[in-house]
Amino acid sequence: EFRKMSDPNKRLLLIPGPIEFHESVLAANGRQTLSHVDPGFINTFGETIEQIRSVVLTETGQPFVMSGSGTLGLEAVASNLIQRGDKALVCNTGYFADAMTDCLTRFGAEVTEVKSPLGEAVDVEAVVAALHVGPFKLLHIIHVESSLSIGNDIETIALAARKIQPEILICVDGVCATGAEELRFDAWDIDAAFTGSQKACGVPPGLMILVLSQRAMKHIKPQTYYSDLTRWLPIMQAYEKRVGSYFCTPSVNLVVALNVSLTRLLNVYGGMEKIFVTMKTIGQNMRDRVLAMGLKLVSPSGKGASNTMTSIYYPDNVDGGQFRSAMSKHNCIIAGGLHPAIKTKYFRIGHMGISALEPERGHLEQLVAAMESCLRECGHVFPKDYVPSQPLAQL
Ligand SMILES: Cc1ncc(COP(=O)(O)O)c(C=O)c1O
Repeated sequence: EFRKMSDPNKRLLLIPGPIEFHESVLAANGRQTLSHVDPGFINTFGETIEQIRSVVLTETGQPFVMSGSGTLGLEAVASNLIQRGDKALVCNTGYFADAMTDCLTRFGAEVTEVKSPLGEAVDVEAVVAALHVGPFKLLHIIHVESSLSIGNDIETIALAARKIQPEILICVDGVCATGAEELRFDAWDIDAAFTGSQKACGVPPGLMILVLSQRAMKHIKPQTYYSDLTRWLPIMQAYEKRVGSYFCTPSVNLVVALNVSLTRLLNVYGGMEKIFVTMKTIGQNMRDRVLAMGLKLVSPSGKGASNTMTSIYYPDNVDGGQFRSAMSKHNCIIAGGLHPAIKTKYFRIGHMGISALEPERGHLEQLVAAMESCLRECGHVFPKDYVPSQPLAQL
């Protein structure tokens, strides 16, 4: 049974993932599990692999759907594409770039980092300069650095990198982005892109989705057992040909739920092009509203800001813990800070999935209204010209 729309008593999960999931996705996840070689499941899995291509806009990329969280994406890339002594360039914008540097290093890479000042997107000129000093086997960029809500310009960086080093493997961590932020795998000549199911793909945690280019496929040399893509490839190929196969048991329910959710992205919400535009508008509206409230963003608005989530400094006189617990009493679960340098000074809100794409649910209005009440309750004085309770799109 579907939950009531815009129920003010329903607790909303508005963190940078997991997010609120559509009832049909939850229903698929809650059904009796099928055999992984059930003809119905084989067909669903095959279709899901095809859908993933449409989500990242590739014709020749090879999707992999593996049980695990987004972190398995870091490991799958590092353990399959890196050999001891390989050089990698990591665009470091925060917490999740530190994680990739750690992961690449463990599999033997010699990592160079291009670091951005806190809250700022990757500086393309700095990447270009590093690539000229290069060569590197792999370039890693995070699409949405979710520790600070930075949106990196994947297109410009990828196209620039390809010109300088035509054979470099360009890897995108799309964990808080794919399914919402503009990503053109083929047009931007990306080699690896991965995400976790629980973010903009709109499915409970448990699946890692990876797409590799044909260029990247030639470099696969696995260093681990479970993430060995030479074992996963025939499985993906078999299911796509609508033949059952086995390496390890797939997360059957989650794959069916992913199929339901991607069908919504590609069909019900009007497809990726429309979603990219909608998400840009929602991100901008949210940042505008936050600024109008007299708050400060961690990552400056406009280019360089992410559209799936926003990071906001607590006003000086507001206690972070008190504010978040007040928000929770208003049925809005938001996230605290994550970046170690400013962890206690800011909070993060997620605005992707059904909360963004189904405005009739009123999730984001509920979020803004709760922020208005709770900030006031915690002592924040709004600018004189701030008009509360306006629909999000009207600013
Ligand atoms: C950009 C980014 N990369 C990687 C991860 C790790 O994903 P997971 O927590 O699903 O392992 C996250 C999680 O929030 C993320 O936002």
